[in-house]
Amino acid sequence: MSLAESRRFAVAPMMDWTDRDCRFFHRRLTRHALLFTEMVVAEAVIRGPRERLLAFSPEEHPLALQLGGADPLRLAEAARIGEGYGYDEINLNVGCPSDRVKSGTFGACLMRTPELVGECVAAMKEAVAIPVTVKCRIGVDDQDPEEALDRLADAVLAAGADGIWVHARKAWLKGLSPKENREVPPLDHARVHRLKERLPHAFIGINGGLHSLAEAEAQLAHADGVMLGRLAYHEPEILAEVDRRFFGAGEGTPDPAAVVEAMIPYVEARLAEGARLSNVVRHMLGLFHGRPGARAWRHTLSTAGNRPGAGVEVLRAALANVRDSLALAA
Ligand SMILES: Cc1cc2nc3c(=O)[nH]c(=O)nc-3n(C[C@H](O)[C@H](O)[C@H](O)COP(=O)(O)O)c2cc1C
Repeated sequence: MSLAESRRFAVAPMMDWTDRDCRFFHRRLTRHALLFTEMVVAEAVIRGPRERLLAFSPEEHPLALQLGGADPLRLAEAARIGEGYGYDEINLNVGCPSDRVKSGTFGACLMRTPELVGECVAAMKEAVAIPVTVKCRIGVDDQDPEEALDRLADAVLAAGADGIWVHARKAWLKGLSPKENREVPPLDHARVHRLKERLPHAFIGINGGLHSLAEAEAQLAHADGVMLGRLAYHEPEILAEVDRRFFGAGEGTPDPAAVVEAMIPYVEARLAEGARLSNVVRHMLGLFHGRPGARAWRHTLSTAGNRPGAGVEVLRAALANVRDSLALAA
């Protein structure tokens, strides 16, 4: 499956959540969805602990590296480094409203300077051969989304961007926490649909507030791709349906217990590298959501899994418990 095809369904970039362990786990559930890193600041890629920030497992492909920044030359340099690491795509963050991002004048506030975002994209395109995409909001603060989103989209497409993902709500840069900024500004999916109608030849992906795969699928009548964030993270089992439903894959859906089994060698390898069990398995807490044994699964992983020196035996024991509960309920 090509990278372009995999954009039909993506798991959103989420800071602190979509780290390499999370992505490896998500990839056990869906082979075809496009996965994203957390946002990594361009300056950190250039001068920080690069290996820790950028290393990933080959199994994670197709994988986009999301960069934060507003300096075309620094972004170009970071994109080049990302390409060297083997990422399939570079994505520029024009949607994140966190304080740290605000002070660096990048993220969502770039909605106000579409020309600068265009320059950033042009510089990154010049630097790498892989696709460069943008993830943005429909506007910020008192901007008129009709105008703000069109201007941003036109600027980045003129600069050669290979696609735009839109989180279908504004960011309010004053007075809201990042979390509130994902909940309080009203959703406006129709605004993204209008963007797609105006730009039939550009890739336009839609994101924000989709609560089921059915809702996500319905969006594909109006957009080229759909991106899920919180739902995919909190209820990862839905990802097991994605290949069949969004990519027409014939094979059966992965069984969550088998996915846990398949994670064991990976978890062992990560522990051997010095990772803590709780950090690796925390992304799996939402498995078995709504099924018998789900509570005990979460409890075991987050208590026994948190003890110093905890190993894969905790994961095995938690899995055995869930299997017992599922068998009892069957
Ligand atoms: C914990 C968390 C961290 C996030 N970090 C990022 C990020 O690093 N970059 C980004 O573009 N969006 C980030 N987002 C926003 C998501 O990518 C997505 O746009 C948002 O959650 C809306 O989609 P959803 O309603 O499906 O969750 C984050 C969201 C969450 C919940």
